[in-house]
Amino acid sequence: MTDKSNCTIAVFGATGGCANATLVHSLLAGYDVSALARTPSKLTAQLLEQGLAQETLDRHLTIVQGDATNVDDVKRALVKDGKLVSFIVSGLGGKPILQKSLRTPVTLDNPGICATSTETLLNALRAIYTENPSGAAIKPLLAYVSTTGISNGPEDVPFWFRFLYHVLLAVPHVDKRKMESTLKWHMAQSETSERFLRAVVGVRASLLTGGIDYRSGHGWRTLRVGTEEKPVVGYTISRADVGEWIFEEIVKKHGGEWVGQRVTLTS
Ligand SMILES: NC(=O)c1ccc[n+]([C@@H]2O[C@H](COP(=O)([O-])OP(=O)(O)OC[C@H]3O[C@@H](n4cnc5c(N)ncnc54)[C@H](OP(=O)(O)O)[C@@H]3O)[C@@H](O)[C@H]2O)c1
Repeated sequence: MTDKSNCTIAVFGATGGCANATLVHSLLAGYDVSALARTPSKLTAQLLEQGLAQETLDRHLTIVQGDATNVDDVKRALVKDGKLVSFIVSGLGGKPILQKSLRTPVTLDNPGICATSTETLLNALRAIYTENPSGAAIKPLLAYVSTTGISNGPEDVPFWFRFLYHVLLAVPHVDKRKMESTLKWHMAQSETSERFLRAVVGVRASLLTGGIDYRSGHGWRTLRVGTEEKPVVGYTISRADVGEWIFEEIVKKHGGEWVGQRVTLTS
């Protein structure tokens, strides 16, 4: 059983469907959350449209206006009521853009967003610990949303999706690989003081469906879950289910059996 009073969460990418669903479940369960948003009014509107009460937002949510590639903005989102948060959930990503290229027809509005924001997050944590060394007593756990199709282990993409994943989506996948390898390298540091996170869980979702509505999934218990070594292979998963799974399996269980894993998640 989690003591919610000691568990605060920072959410990045909260106006995207996956992180938004984690945010909603966290707020409804009474967790205190800090969410970084470039456009706070967009996030507030999304939450009210899903039926959350203004009172719940006033009581449990702090929206920090800012950019995930700006260290000062990220620092502000990581500290809630003067204390470093205990969980970080990131569903940051770029907007897909089609371009005239046979080799890379799909790019992103910011093709390096995941890698850059991961570096920014680590720099922000370093700054927080430098300014206040006691802040490193309990470091946050990070859960980030990534993708299937970038595994170094057995193939985790179904045969009929392989051209899409390995050819058409090459640009977004370079960014996801950089994000994952930055975190892997960081967590491999031998000195505890050189690791700014207490644990990391990567969530490699299959093709995402649905939009912003935490009630639109099939339920986190219906999902198939694997790891990089033993992936589950599936076609799609709803954003609502990804977000709910992160809340139930990572936030509520403090990472549980998935700590240190790159989890594959599909319907
Ligand atoms: N599409 C797929 O099938 C698929 C499959 C697996 C994994 N993924 C990945 O899963 C992740 C989550 O996807 P999703 O669909 O839930 O979310 P999404 O629609 O990709 O939303 C991305 C989020 O990142 C935010 N963001 C982007 N740049 C930012 C910046 N510089 N500063 C602050 N916020 C920034 C966006 O905010 P704004 O509202 O301000 O734009 C939005 O909240 C993404 O990384 C996506 O690439 C996608």
